[in-house]
Amino acid sequence: MAAVIGTISIYYTNSLVGELKKREKTFIDLYAKTIEMVANQDNGDIPFLFQEIIVPNNNIPVILTDNMGNYLNHRNIDIDESYSEEKKARIIEEELEEMREAYPPIEIVLKNSQTGMVDSFQWVYYKNSFLLAQLQYYPYIQLSVIAGFALLAYMIFSYSRTAEQNRVWIGLAKETAHQLGTPLSSLMAWLEYFRAEPEVYDPDIVKELDKDIDRLQMITARFSSIGSVPALKEENLVQAIASTVSYLQNRISTKVSMRLDTDNEGILVMINKPLFDWVIENICKNAVDAMGGIGSITISITQQKNDKVAIDITDTGKGIPKSRISQVFTPGYTTKQRGWGLGLSLAQRIVEHYHKGKIFVKHSEPEVGTTFRILLNTVPQVSGRKVKIAAHIPA
Ligand SMILES: Nc1ncnc2c1ncn2[C@@H]1O[C@H](COP(=O)(O)OP(=O)(O)OP(=O)(O)O)[C@@H](O)[C@H]1O
Ligand SMILES: [Mg+2]
Repeated sequence: MAAVIGTISIYYTNSLVGELKKREKTFIDLYAKTIEMVANQDNGDIPFLFQEIIVPNNNIPVILTDNMGNYLNHRNIDIDESYSEEKKARIIEEELEEMREAYPPIEIVLKNSQTGMVDSFQWVYYKNSFLLAQLQYYPYIQLSVIAGFALLAYMIFSYSRTAEQNRVWIGLAKETAHQLGTPLSSLMAWLEYFRAEPEVYDPDIVKELDKDIDRLQMITARFSSIGSVPALKEENLVQAIASTVSYLQNRISTKVSMRLDTDNEGILVMINKPLFDWVIENICKNAVDAMGGIGSITISITQQKNDKVAIDITDTGKGIPKSRISQVFTPGYTTKQRGWGLGLSLAQRIVEHYHKGKIFVKHSEPEVGTTFRILLNTVPQVSGRKVKIAAHIPA
């Protein structure tokens, strides 16, 4: 719509400019003829012509020169009488130059009053009036103002939309954490009861209940972290990911092997562990789905230049078609029958919003596999400082 309005506006103004140019040309021809007449004869019409044509020309800039192009006089050029002669001459010269480029001059033939023979020539140089010059630029000024407003409106709109999305995310997450809290504390109380009563105590059941409660507590911690400004803590990245990997390994198919590679085991980052685990878990779950439960997942951590670390998660799954890569982070985009399409948008939110990092599809090839990359800022290492190394890194 904007392009159509813009084109119409430019087209319309251009035709106006064309019309006005024609008029100015007609006028200037008449003006030159008048000068010629005034110079060549002196009859009673002259004062009239002067009054009606030459004097009212109060907007087209004109310079009259002699045969050799030397300045004779001018009209409608902004020259103050108080200017020095030098300055006046310079302005005239500049104007003349502009006029030479704008239009060919109009010839005035001066005849000898007695013999009627051609005596000499003069030239009328002119350029567009100020009004015409302004009118030519008008649509562009108008369009840039409209574009500026459109951009501003778009920015306000997009800002308010993001703010609304944030409120929904945060509100839902807080509410979920809150609602999970009640049954969770009740379950914990029941567990204590089981432990305390010898008649009902069964170590296997209690162990399993314990695990489930841990899991529920972790879920609550995730939701309550995403529902508030999560606290970031300095962690050893390799260690943090190693623990997530060993946790996941016990929960996924045995036909999926997981490997963790790193060139540096002492990379420090500021993360919120429950949320960051969630990111790794979501990406690995997607990888398992993409491989149909058989294949391998490789996580490689590499220190980058300028205080960044890259975490590449590569699977041997079915890949993402090129045309879909830009959509995978959109909330609601899913190709799975039972998917919500929220896993990656949540991961993106956690990485980019809370950790000021980046997450993107680094590479994907159908039937070969996909690599997701996460970039995080590292904590600058103080020399001589000892970094705890992961006790066990699954190979
Ligand atoms: N490793 C991958 N290989 C191939 N396709 C993937 C991979 N990861 C994500 N995708 C594609 O991106 C889509 C969106 O992923 P996302 O995790 O956001 O949602 P989901 O897994 O479909 O559902 P949810 O995670 O909410 O249960 C997936 O449905 C899948 O088509
Ligand atoms: Mg998913």
